Amino acid sequence: MNKISLRGVTKVFGKQPERALDLLARGMTRDEILRKEKLLIAVHDVSFDIEEGELFVVMGLSGSGKSTLVRMINRLHDPTSGSVEVDGEDVTRMSASQLRELRMTKISMVFQHFALFPHRRVWENAAYGLQVRGVDAAERRRRAMEALEIVGLTNFADAFPHELSGGMKQRVGLARGLATDADVLLMDEPFSALDPLIRRDMQNLLLDLQRDLKRTIVFITHDLNEAMRVGDRIAVMRDGAVVQVGTGGEIIAEPANEYVADFISDVDRSRCLTAEQVMKKPLLTASPDDDLRDLLNKLSELEQNALYVLDPAGRILGVAKDHRIAQAISQGKTRVRDVLIREHAEVHPSTRLINLSRLAAQDRVPIAVVDDERRLLGVVPRATLLAAIAGEEEAADAT
Ligand SMILES: Nc1ncnc2c1ncn2[C@@H]1O[C@H](COP(=O)(O)OP(=O)(O)O)[C@@H](O)[C@H]1O
Ligand SMILES: [Mg+2]
Repeated sequence: MNKISLRGVTKVFGKQPERALDLLARGMTRDEILRKEKLLIAVHDVSFDIEEGELFVVMGLSGSGKSTLVRMINRLHDPTSGSVEVDGEDVTRMSASQLRELRMTKISMVFQHFALFPHRRVWENAAYGLQVRGVDAAERRRRAMEALEIVGLTNFADAFPHELSGGMKQRVGLARGLATDADVLLMDEPFSALDPLIRRDMQNLLLDLQRDLKRTIVFITHDLNEAMRVGDRIAVMRDGAVVQVGTGGEIIAEPANEYVADFISDVDRSRCLTAEQVMKKPLLTASPDDDLRDLLNKLSELEQNALYVLDPAGRILGVAKDHRIAQAISQGKTRVRDVLIREHAEVHPSTRLINLSRLAAQDRVPIAVVDDERRLLGVVPRATLLAAIAGEEEAADAT
């Protein structure tokens, strides 16, 4: 279900902003309108849907319109044209009191440089959104403590902000967002001010939280690697327009234009792509009762040296390797079950390639990608893995 829907959303800054829409319709470019009319089209004709429970990233260089776009979702900015729906209600038509209600109950916002109140304790800071809502003191304390526990700050609940490191302060900001129970969190570059290691911790924390809480999160970043790491889907912005929306893997595999291709050229692919995105169908599998001679023939025809042996449900029983098969045949054995060994690696479809490369170094059998019931979904041969990380087409005969 769509939690948030944007249709043709445009925001123009300047006097009589609507004029810019006419000028655009008459074919004037964004640059000309800025130069000649002093009207800045910060966001131009943006449409997309965000699903309930999705972690949706808006990514783009500084000045590309990310903050302006996201601030139209809770109407901190009024769109010049277009509609913004949250749970099917158009926020552009809401009255002042409806808006207040929306911001207090449904949407909360976490900023990069959000202000902690220096003379209030950590838990009071975390409870700020609740106080604004008029929640009573005992309930505020209880909910703030819950949120602080989630972000790992229980022991600092009664401390003051100056006693916290930068990363811890940012976690208080996250707790403040969580404590409100809002279904939608808007996060405007929440980690950009943090140093890289703390930032990575915060990204992991966010992903862990999201696994349990399943809020709808709109997360802004100018950092492509961060976008790829945390986003279920990513909208790439340039000069106010959204130039592509897709999963990290989709954007890497098929950049919509040269701008996006340039942008992703130095992305860390090993941390973005998942096993599912690069796996292949196994050329050959066997069951335990298959005949060893037949299998050896098939293997040599396909120029493979090993295969996965599956039970009737498709679960992996083990691996059969060509040299062991040949040896077993010479010892008078006939069935695949006689040569089964278990020395392969199994991974979940969502495993990142960086974690596969560690496994590939240990083992010459293609890595098995399995579902929750351990059924074989596909394999990742070493050559496939290396080619994917390098961003190259794989040589046709290499496996
Ligand atoms: N309140 C405002 N008044 C005028 N121009 C603004 C305002 N807010 C943002 N802008 C301009 O709109 C463009 C997009 O800004 P912004 O949405 O903050 O981009 P980002 O968040 O991607 O860095 C920039 O050129 C910025 O200078
Ligand atoms: Mg911004």
